[in-house]
Amino acid sequence: MIQPVIDNHLDSAWIQRTLRADVAEGLLLSPKELPSKWFYDDRGSELFEQITRLPEYYPTRREREILQREMDVIAKRSGAETVVELGSGTSEKTRIVLDALVAIGRLGCYVPFDTSEAPLLYAANMLAQAYQGLTVHGVVGDFEHHLGYIPDGGCRLFVMLGGTIGNFLPPARKKFLAKVADAMHPGDSLLMGFDLLKDHDKLVAAYDDPEGVTAAFNRNVLAVINHRLDADFVLEQFAHEAFFNFDEECIEMWLRATQYQQVTIKDLDMEVEFIDGERMRTEVSAKFRPENIAPELAEVGLATEQLWTDSLGDFALSLSRRVQC
Ligand code: SAH
Ligand code: AVI
Repeated sequence: MIQPVIDNHLDSAWIQRTLRADVAEGLLLSPKELPSKWFYDDRGSELFEQITRLPEYYPTRREREILQREMDVIAKRSGAETVVELGSGTSEKTRIVLDALVAIGRLGCYVPFDTSEAPLLYAANMLAQAYQGLTVHGVVGDFEHHLGYIPDGGCRLFVMLGGTIGNFLPPARKKFLAKVADAMHPGDSLLMGFDLLKDHDKLVAAYDDPEGVTAAFNRNVLAVINHRLDADFVLEQFAHEAFFNFDEECIEMWLRATQYQQVTIKDLDMEVEFIDGERMRTEVSAKFRPENIAPELAEVGLATEQLWTDSLGDFALSLSRRVQC
């Protein structure tokens, strides 16, 4: 086994500074808002894993079906020997990607990239053990800031699975995709997962499970702020809400104060009031129309070669290539 190399660009000073700025800015907005990237401390990442196994949460299963069906073709088409995975989490579905490269004798290096260190370390070790001769070079970083630290090496297949691209608001999404395109060399390709627009009841059910796992995931952002910024949010006094925004075609998750409350965030020297019933947005999850995907990628210089959907038409994977500049 080749021992994984892990670069960590998120020291606690960076996390503290960035979270402070995000919370200070978001809680002054009306309505209040928190960025969803702060869900994913160790507990949040664990909760997300539980979400992926819920019967109502279809995206993971639907995306896995496409990967299992098409990954051989994608591996050959990409010509890649290095896989760079943005928002890799536990790298569960990545095995299908790596297996396909092994099958054609091309797998050299895997670069998991995530803010969440614990699942990344776990996955890096598991995969280095499972794939003889595989170099694992993990990057603990924020993909909105640290894409420049992705190691070079051979022809690369960038992958972003799970529909994580939908967690950006449209202007931030465009900026992010432009940065990804910029980080790619001509000839590198991008395999990206998109959750598709569908029956609204099915969508809402995926984000409001009866077991309350998604509710716990949603409230976890408050636990992160309590822990990191010495705040006193009472998690039980916030109710989980998920609904479909018909104008923006996205699921939105909110936390609703179930009574008047005053929260102290010591690290920010900040007192925040929530009136009874006040709602704070914690996540958007865009649901895409298949016909809009290639044009959106083309805007940042990524030419889509093919788009695959699962047998139910719930989820799509696109394979795009960075065009020569
Ligand atoms: N790709 C996995 C996990 C998706 S969950 C899957 O398909 O199941 C989203 C992942 O993105 C989490 O692991 C989270 O920690 C990571 N993430 C969220 N915001 C991020 C950011 N700004 N930079 C890097 N990783 C981020
Ligand atoms: C990671 N991301 C694609 C998930 C989603 O579906 O938007 C996060 C999530 N939020 C609630 N459940 C899952």
